[in-house]
Amino acid sequence: MQVEEAIRSRKSVRQFSSKPVDGQTVRDILEIAKWAASGGNLQPWKVKVLTGEPLSDLVRNVQGKLAKGQMESPEYNVYPPELKDPYRTRRRVVGQALYDLIGVPREDTPGKFRQLAKNFEFFGAPVGLFFVMDRQMEIGQYVDLGIFVQNIMLMAREKGLHTCPQEAWAQWPKTTAEFLNVPDDEMVFCGMALGYMDEEAIINNLQSERAYLEEFVEFHGFSD
Ligand SMILES: Cc1cc2nc3c(=O)[nH]c(=O)nc-3n(C[C@H](O)[C@H](O)[C@H](O)COP(=O)(O)O)c2cc1C
Repeated sequence: MQVEEAIRSRKSVRQFSSKPVDGQTVRDILEIAKWAASGGNLQPWKVKVLTGEPLSDLVRNVQGKLAKGQMESPEYNVYPPELKDPYRTRRRVVGQALYDLIGVPREDTPGKFRQLAKNFEFFGAPVGLFFVMDRQMEIGQYVDLGIFVQNIMLMAREKGLHTCPQEAWAQWPKTTAEFLNVPDDEMVFCGMALGYMDEEAIINNLQSERAYLEEFVEFHGFSD
């Protein structure tokens, strides 16, 4: 698979088939992904990979808490509280497209909540990953983590797998840290669902948009 095909075929999949993914495949993906660049070669990431019983235990734990109406204070603001345009509009557009696709009307708050809660089942994926960072890290190291995460998502495509990166897990900092034995000086930054796409699921037809280059690129010194 060419890099371009891996990039273009990657999308956030929100319903997976139950087909298992073997440990060796996940290892192979991580072995390659770890060659990501990182400032000062810090490689500031740690990864927890769950499947089978541990994954079901965590899902059951969180779903049980959700059913009782329990919540935790998020570890960090996933988005700025006063998100500016064009970012605010982009976020609204993709959210609306998703709910339109699955037939959840604008005013159906419980319906939206039910969809959101599927994050905490890894959208049915057989493998869940968590990315853990030392709390000492700065913005630069979060960029490094992003580069590493993208490598995983692209390598997953090469193996015929799909992913969904999940900052939603930041809503359960205590539960995830306890479950994953993460010490106080580290934090669970985000999760990721990994598995085979459910080809029949309508939600996986979501086509997110991208801005034109003119909206975010300036070229200087080119003659063409
Ligand atoms: C760091 C990160 C965290 C994300 N967290 C979530 C999440 O918690 N739940 C979710 O459904 N999608 C999540 N997404 C997926 C984005 O919504 C998605 O990447 C964006 O809408 C573009 O769509 P695409 O990935 O299909 O190209 C996340 C993406 C990134 C990069």
